[in-house]
Amino acid sequence: MPPMPPMPPMPPMPPAPHYPATAADWRALAWRRLPRFLFDYVDGGAGDERTLAANEAGFAALQLRQRVLVDVSQVDTRSQLAGQDCALPLALAPVGLAGMMARRGEAQAARAAQAAGVPFTLSTVGICPLAEVAAASGAAPWFQLYMLRDRGAVRALLDAAWAGGCRTLVFTVDLPATGLRWRDVRNGMTAGGAGAALLRARQVLARPGWVRDVALRGKPLTFGSLSAQVPGGRDLNAFKAWVDAQFDPGVTWKDIDWLRGQWQGRLLLKGILDVDDARAAVASGAEGIVVSNHGGRQLDSAPASIAALPAIARAVGHQTEVLMDGGVRSGTDVFKALALGARGVLIGRPWVWALAAQGQAGVAQLLAHWQRELLLTMTLAGATSIADIDSTHLNALQEHP
Ligand code: FNR
Repeated sequence: MPPMPPMPPMPPMPPAPHYPATAADWRALAWRRLPRFLFDYVDGGAGDERTLAANEAGFAALQLRQRVLVDVSQVDTRSQLAGQDCALPLALAPVGLAGMMARRGEAQAARAAQAAGVPFTLSTVGICPLAEVAAASGAAPWFQLYMLRDRGAVRALLDAAWAGGCRTLVFTVDLPATGLRWRDVRNGMTAGGAGAALLRARQVLARPGWVRDVALRGKPLTFGSLSAQVPGGRDLNAFKAWVDAQFDPGVTWKDIDWLRGQWQGRLLLKGILDVDDARAAVASGAEGIVVSNHGGRQLDSAPASIAALPAIARAVGHQTEVLMDGGVRSGTDVFKALALGARGVLIGRPWVWALAAQGQAGVAQLLAHWQRELLLTMTLAGATSIADIDSTHLNALQEHP
């Protein structure tokens, strides 16, 4: 590996924190802002939401070692993810329909991420098209893709991503079929019909601020990056029907070999939760993996991501870049993921809650708070650089949540 180029001077300490302070604060504000079916779509998980709960509980169970009298006058949170300099080892995860949470939501969030010095990942099923996100933030995002039945459409999306400047592809492999999310079922998100439409209309009318911001001023509310694939698609239902028909349960590692041949940039396989799959991912030529259970939205009762991470990091961490997501709710959680072998984390719900509550400013504030919290955690745990963080910072008896 070539030597890392010298880093620019340390960024200033983020401004003093203020309310809304924590991920829980943003979540509460998102609840007040969003129609019920949208809040639940973001907040919920599959089945009995056991994996969703385990993701957060796994972090809560981990204890850190408090170290004293270490020189922590210079603490540096900067790192590199997928070859990109980052102010902290964190990227915004791909979240479908984020542009339904705030007006032109992906563009707002990407602007906040760029200003904070962290990568933004645009979902295949984002509302804003790639060009809009890149123009708004001044940087090409990471692009997330699912395998679609129509390989010609996959090719076209890869070409569009490359032409749009994307060099990191986050390819999601844990969705051969959509998980069963009961909150969406209750809210009529999965079935059509007049009853479901009426229910959602009532929920929308209860949130006039959202109607003004998103429904009236946030148009077009379509899957922006798919407009060439769904010609004539004029509303979200047309796009959703197309996407639902395109999920391909027949995808195997052979298709990843094909994909590898199609994409010359960096390839991160997202949704790896098993050591054998992690080894196969390395063999497929991916430059990195994201240890993930899709935020507890797919296989309920799958292990928490943070519980799956140590064995995967031990098995392939020396061969590939291991990122993780699921349940990261603070700067301290970022530290814990690194201590268990992750190179960095992705965050999903927290940035979407902040976006729903206060748009770009909300995401910016969340990221500033987490950077400050990571910096303070490093200071109090006696780690002065990201590379310093390892399992010796964990209370040894607690290594496995
Ligand atoms: C997601 N996630 C996701 N992943 C992906 O690869 N493509 C997508 O379009 C989406 N869409 C999506 C929508 C919503 C509402 C959520 C909450 C999540 C999964 C996401 O990228 C990430 O893996 C999880 O969100 C991480 O868990 P936390 O941070 O939400 O706990």
